[in-house]
Amino acid sequence: MLTNRIAIFRLVSILCCLPLWDTQAQDQDTSFQPGQIWLDTSGGPIQAHGGGVLVDGGTYYWYGEDRTDPAQTVVSCYSSKDLHHWTHQGKVYSPNDLPQELRARCFIERPKVIYNRKTNRYVLWAHLEQPGYHFSKALVATSTSPTGPFRFERAFRPISEDVGFKDDDPDQQKALGGTFRDMNLFVDDDEKAYVFYASEGNWTMYVVQLDDTYTAPQIPQEQGKTWARILVGRLREAPAPFKYKGRYYLITSGCTGWSPNAADWAVADNILGPYESRGNPCHGPEAALTFRSQSTYVLPLPNMPGCFVFMADRWNPRRLQDSAYIWLPLLIHDDGTVAIVWHDNWDLSVFERLER
Ligand code: GAL
Repeated sequence: MLTNRIAIFRLVSILCCLPLWDTQAQDQDTSFQPGQIWLDTSGGPIQAHGGGVLVDGGTYYWYGEDRTDPAQTVVSCYSSKDLHHWTHQGKVYSPNDLPQELRARCFIERPKVIYNRKTNRYVLWAHLEQPGYHFSKALVATSTSPTGPFRFERAFRPISEDVGFKDDDPDQQKALGGTFRDMNLFVDDDEKAYVFYASEGNWTMYVVQLDDTYTAPQIPQEQGKTWARILVGRLREAPAPFKYKGRYYLITSGCTGWSPNAADWAVADNILGPYESRGNPCHGPEAALTFRSQSTYVLPLPNMPGCFVFMADRWNPRRLQDSAYIWLPLLIHDDGTVAIVWHDNWDLSVFERLER
């Protein structure tokens, strides 16, 4: 649908000698328009679903799922200096880059990239899946450049603790370890990195400290010290962690597939928890459905303490490539509560006007 509308608009623009994308397109101004078509600097619709943003050397890199080809999700990368104008840097990882035995059936969801200063490598983690959603492994790949190419490191389940999995479990968790599905990465101020992911068939979230290379869990693994089960039995996914004034915050969604549901924010004094769930942070129309979207990332704005961009996906399950982006201001009030406030149209100056 979206691509049809874009094709028609392109045609009308050409026939009427209008500059391409001179209405609606976000490259004409510096405002975010949640839910609207968002074009890259070459005029194509941005394909970076379930993504996250890396800030590196004064440039933002937005990684996500390119779903242009419904048969094969690949990892895309876009770069920007201002969070509005995004230049497509191409596809940085695709199932073709997997080892032979994984290539045919696997697809990739929710990719995220962090930079490791010690190894001078960009480290990509993603949810590697197969039809049926029982494969459920972490994909790890590395690159010397933020724009790739990324090289395969491993596909695995990071934690193998048997928390009482059933013998007939379709996810084979007794044998293979806890499932790895919706995920995110977080680098703390001390440069220790962590992966957050929905595990145990999505019932419980895991937080796992990574080793010095950021490509594997810290060993020896010790529950409560290097990894933890959080939001136990709460059936949460789409984790988006961030930190403010020494406290760890975590936005999650409920588990209803592509359909939207209410977000929750949780807070902890320690990254490994315990996390206290505090309810829905969204305010505005359709707040009970996270504005018809699902969290994917929370971006702290450089040099703007307490100001964050909440990034979410408004999935279009019939045509995933037409799913829209919902980027909104996320504010932490002076009392520590989190608020995500709907705006049809906003820019970073909104943070000066939002009440603390
Ligand atoms: C959602 C998840 C998405 C995708 C989808 C498939 O729950 O957040 O990333 O995996 O399920 O149905």
